[in-house]
Amino acid sequence: MDHSDRIVDLVESLTRAEKLALVHGAPDPDGTATGYLPGVDRLGVPELKLADGPLGVRTPGQAATAFPASIALAATFDDDLARRQGAAIGREANARGQDVLLGPGLNLIRVPHCGRNFEYFSEDPVLTGSFAGAVVEGLQSEDVVATPKHFVANNQETRRTRVSADVSERALRECYLPGFRAAVDAGAGAIMTAYNQINGTHASEHHRLLTEVLKGEWGFEGFVMSDWFGTETTVGAANAGLDLEMPGITSEEMMESFDMPDLELSDIDFGNADALPTPETAGTRMFAEPLDEAIDAGDVPEARLDDMVARILGQMERFGVLDDERNEGEIDTPEHREIAEEVATRGTVLLENDGVLPLDDDADVAVVGPAATVAMLGGGGSSEMTAFDETPTVDGIRERAGGTVTYAQGVPEIEIPSFFDDIFGDDEAATDADADTDSASVAIDDAVEAAESAEVAVVVVQDATTEAEDRDDLRLPGDQDALVEAVAAANDRTVVVVQSSGPVELPWRDDVAAVVESWYPGQADGDAVASVLYGDADAGGRLPVTFAPESEYPATEPHQYPGDDEVHYDEGVFVGYRHFDDTDAEPTYPFGHGLSYAEFAYRDVEMVDDETVRVTVENTSERDGREVVQAYVRPPHVADVERPLREFAGHTAVDIPAGESVTVDVTLDDLAFRRYDESDGWTVDPGAYGVEVGRSSRDVRAETGVSR
Ligand code: NOJ
Repeated sequence: MDHSDRIVDLVESLTRAEKLALVHGAPDPDGTATGYLPGVDRLGVPELKLADGPLGVRTPGQAATAFPASIALAATFDDDLARRQGAAIGREANARGQDVLLGPGLNLIRVPHCGRNFEYFSEDPVLTGSFAGAVVEGLQSEDVVATPKHFVANNQETRRTRVSADVSERALRECYLPGFRAAVDAGAGAIMTAYNQINGTHASEHHRLLTEVLKGEWGFEGFVMSDWFGTETTVGAANAGLDLEMPGITSEEMMESFDMPDLELSDIDFGNADALPTPETAGTRMFAEPLDEAIDAGDVPEARLDDMVARILGQMERFGVLDDERNEGEIDTPEHREIAEEVATRGTVLLENDGVLPLDDDADVAVVGPAATVAMLGGGGSSEMTAFDETPTVDGIRERAGGTVTYAQGVPEIEIPSFFDDIFGDDEAATDADADTDSASVAIDDAVEAAESAEVAVVVVQDATTEAEDRDDLRLPGDQDALVEAVAAANDRTVVVVQSSGPVELPWRDDVAAVVESWYPGQADGDAVASVLYGDADAGGRLPVTFAPESEYPATEPHQYPGDDEVHYDEGVFVGYRHFDDTDAEPTYPFGHGLSYAEFAYRDVEMVDDETVRVTVENTSERDGREVVQAYVRPPHVADVERPLREFAGHTAVDIPAGESVTVDVTLDDLAFRRYDESDGWTVDPGAYGVEVGRSSRDVRAETGVSR
């Protein structure tokens, strides 16, 4: 790889010790960065600060705008909004003095149980790629280095540091890698490796993936960092292409920087010990003395160290860090608050509606459920945010409602697991005592009574997920299902607002009048939910994941998930909706689904060139609406080749005023045409490809075709 003359000179001027100090982290003297490089004073190389995302910039003890979860962002099907959210997070990172943002997270949603699905975008590689690219562009437009993570196949939290994803080259190429490829094509300056192994080799020392694919085939010029304590070896990782060990400090130093010197990393109970870094790696600095010795012994070429350093300095040069030209940034501005609200609103998906929504302005509403009193900022883990200001769901509804609003909790509070509470040792006894008081004072009957005396009941329900743990099942935790059933029996105009990390089971869905999925909407929770419930905004969100009963998903055999030492991706490329199409299983709500308050008619579909499908969409209703035009490609049949029935190929979101028609172009991603052949590589089978245009993967409104 060619580095600039300045970087080449700089690397030449550095001593071995100085170089080594640039390839493993150190404690941040300010205690705000998640990862830190001290720089080299002698040569004017400034420090480099890395902060967690991806739901905003997380610096301990400080607030920032709490943006909606990544899955909510993807549900907008609006890349431009993703670019704007990325740029806003970039400005906030600058305001907090952070140079690198540890996001976006973009692992494919393979299993609905994964505890981090809210940090990821979708079950589809093309949709994932477009959001990954857009967020990278947004962040980096503010000169903040983006760090797409976790490369690759970190699709579950169970045994995440040990498990080997046994995955075919075809599934890797067609499903798990394209999001990262898109992020690299968008110019990502850094990449974070996964904790897990891929086919028996840890991601941080996977030469083929890091050096051959990422840096070779894709031409990635940035630096590859490990996940925290995820560097397993010195020689293996360095020679495989890892450039930066993070955090590079021992667990003791980390605890000291948290001001908890007596706590050992291994003492922390995350609820899932298998999610912890392995004890061997948690206490070492692989890229400090051991790397020095490995170079002396000739096990790692000195040129490899030079390349690591040049890659890191190269990105510092590219984004102005080297010249101390960091942008000043801004935090918690009206614009950022508006973006957070717009994403939350547009990402809200109307799953069912028998006509109860939008609500009448003057309807008397009973709001029910413990989830209504909190703004759902996210799940637990490294993405946890602290907002300056947040609007719980019930507050947003109160503010918007013209009629009376009553509230009843109905069932005990659902605790959102907090990774950091675990680390900092929350007083469990106190929590239990609180929970007891809570359950004694709340009763479903109160909720039923409130629902009976209101015109409309709005039940707000939530799941509870965290990094380091997967969900046991897809049911709503606690007594929330019973709450919905009781309220629905008392009021036939019951609306359920679901706030979840991804798919959940909704066993009562036929008994309620409407269901709205608002994910983890972030600080603007109440405002966004109210504006969709009252129809101030059309329900513009669509599902980036299939909703189905747990037993219907792919990977239901224990060896497929959660696996043991290995997890077998036997379903190959049949992930998400591809599996449902292949098995003819009926999803509860298909990929791409989302109702609108308007109605749309599709006509005049045609290919305008080989990769663009054009369709006219008319809003036949009397309301202005927002439509997400989706395109899917159906490959020709080829003997002995199993392919998905259809593959998502692209989308365009448009606002269409009442009664008007617009012509919409959708660009078809090449990935939907290609397949990866284990011996011939990327292959486009010659033949006729169907092109479907419609409202979801199961609601095709117009069809055309193209030959390849
Ligand atoms: C572990 C997580 O997997 C990763 O996403 C995060 O950025 C690091 N910890 C740092 O907090």
